[in-house]
Amino acid sequence: MAVGIFDSGLGGLTVLDAVANRLPDVPLVYYGDNAHAPYGVRTHDDIYNLTVSATQKLFDRGCDLVILACNTASAAALRRMQESWVPHDKRVLGVFVPLIEALTERQWGDNSPPREVAIKHVALFATPATVASRAFQRELAFRAIGVDVEGQACGGVVDAIEEGDLILAEALVRSHVDALKRKMPEPDAAVLGCTHYPLMEGVFQDALGPEVKVFSQANLVAESLADYLTRRPQMIGPGTESMFLTSGNPKQVSNRATQFLRRKIEFQQA
Ligand code: DGL
Repeated sequence: MAVGIFDSGLGGLTVLDAVANRLPDVPLVYYGDNAHAPYGVRTHDDIYNLTVSATQKLFDRGCDLVILACNTASAAALRRMQESWVPHDKRVLGVFVPLIEALTERQWGDNSPPREVAIKHVALFATPATVASRAFQRELAFRAIGVDVEGQACGGVVDAIEEGDLILAEALVRSHVDALKRKMPEPDAAVLGCTHYPLMEGVFQDALGPEVKVFSQANLVAESLADYLTRRPQMIGPGTESMFLTSGNPKQVSNRATQFLRRKIEFQQA
């Protein structure tokens, strides 16, 4: 009984934490590809190949369902994986759809035509690869009309978080918010479209101002996973043990993860 959670590095821990709170009895196997982070500046082919190999590792650890808790992988690799790679008895899900359903006030499975929604101007903060993919705009267009999305590629933020340099991360977030506001002075909502960014959510909210509603994915993904497992309980795989795996240096990754989640996390090499 295990569900796999994947990210290029530490960001997916924000999702893992929310899932662990929502589904305390489901064993979770986390894999952070820290040796290859950040993904956000890589080509789509590169992101695809790395994501496939990480997902296979999670299948091998007894997970039949893997959540790509990484927007970059969800944007650049998920569709291709689902179309040509995922075995018929396994599932791989991304993190965009729950977020877009929340933004467009839709329930799961509501496939009615796109309609007008309350939010009109959305600031999307994400990695360069996610912004360039336009996957967010594509998914949004299936559900809503008349929403203006301005993407801001937040170069450097993931590297700073992975390095544990939160002072640099904060300075970069503030400068990216300034850059966004020059293009879209009054967004109604902001989407933190990278799972690393909730670690900086307070800084985003402060820089954007209290009138901007900030959407962050962790709880939305956890809720959507709980709903999915109620409908497909057989997708909880045969694994029975929760664990944290990394392609990077386990000691260093464990220290950073412990600092971010404020509880002891021990990674093993995989
Ligand atoms: N946390 C990831 C995301 O949600 C990946 C960031 C990266 O590796 O560049 O996009």
